[in-house]
Amino acid sequence: MPAIMSVDEIRELQRRVRDLKKKKDAYIIAHNYQLPEIQDVADYVGDSLGMAMEAKKTDHPLVVVCGVHFMAETAAILLPDRKVITPERYAGCSLAESITPEQLKEWKAQHPDAVVVSYVNTTAEVKALSDYTVTSSNAVDIIRSIPEDREILFLPDMFLGMYVKEVTGRKNMHIWPGECHVHARVTPQDISRAAVEHPGATMLVHPECGCSTNCLYLKAKGELDVDIKVFSTGGMVRYVKEHPDREYVVATEVGILYRLSKEIGDGSDRLKPLREDMVCEYMKMITVDKLVRSLEEEIYEVKVPPHVAERARVPIERMLQLSSKGR
Ligand code: 13P
Ligand code: SF4
Repeated sequence: MPAIMSVDEIRELQRRVRDLKKKKDAYIIAHNYQLPEIQDVADYVGDSLGMAMEAKKTDHPLVVVCGVHFMAETAAILLPDRKVITPERYAGCSLAESITPEQLKEWKAQHPDAVVVSYVNTTAEVKALSDYTVTSSNAVDIIRSIPEDREILFLPDMFLGMYVKEVTGRKNMHIWPGECHVHARVTPQDISRAAVEHPGATMLVHPECGCSTNCLYLKAKGELDVDIKVFSTGGMVRYVKEHPDREYVVATEVGILYRLSKEIGDGSDRLKPLREDMVCEYMKMITVDKLVRSLEEEIYEVKVPPHVAERARVPIERMLQLSSKGR
């Protein structure tokens, strides 16, 4: 259990982060799920796609990624000539771990002509075996860009896969049965309950949620009378910014609530989590004291073997190219 810090202790550590950032010419990229004290000292806070795009743009010699390991790996792949560090080397991701390179090789052997589309929540080795990398904000567009007659292997998130299949109407798409332990627990019953407790609220649902496809299906059939929007975390931020006066129920990791409350200003009581237990313990492993140590000692460096990075860079760059117009 990490020690509980007082507000003054956190402020002092944040001051040290800001000093070290200047001294080392470092740039901090953080995910929307990070703790508030990390978000407040980061130079950029966004979703997985935004983090990759930002990494590619930065010219700082030292880049600190506050997010889970695959996010730091993506930055390291895009910045082979820079030092990329993470404050917590054991911040993994249950979804990224749900497929191994060996399993993917076997799956590919069963479908030798298929195009392999991997969600960005995958290890560098899995990306190196893929044709495209996608995030929740561009998966639909990238699937649509693949010729209709090509078979697709989509991995590893089955809920995102089913959502994309439903939205695009793609028939020849096989989906790997992986899931994220935080999002998989969301059910349509959670949405129905929230609709009763917060009538008139807009539900912001991440496509990794267990209910995303079900909810869209029930809504299309008129069996769910709720205003549901399925978005990546970055999409949620943009939507709330454009509609700051509404009430929201948010179905994703609870760290996003701090990010969204900054967009809404005084209205944070109009933001409710769908489930209080949607906490990603991996994201929460990154604390401000670890960030200070990481900057001081320039640890933990994230290194991807060059032969893996070279191959993994191809699908990531393809994704960045296809996404650059939409943001
Ligand atoms: P986003 O790319 O939507 O931020 O999602 C990343 C993630 O890990 C969701 O659990
Ligand atoms: Fe991975 Fe789930 Fe955590 Fe996102 S919330 S980083 S998918 S374990």
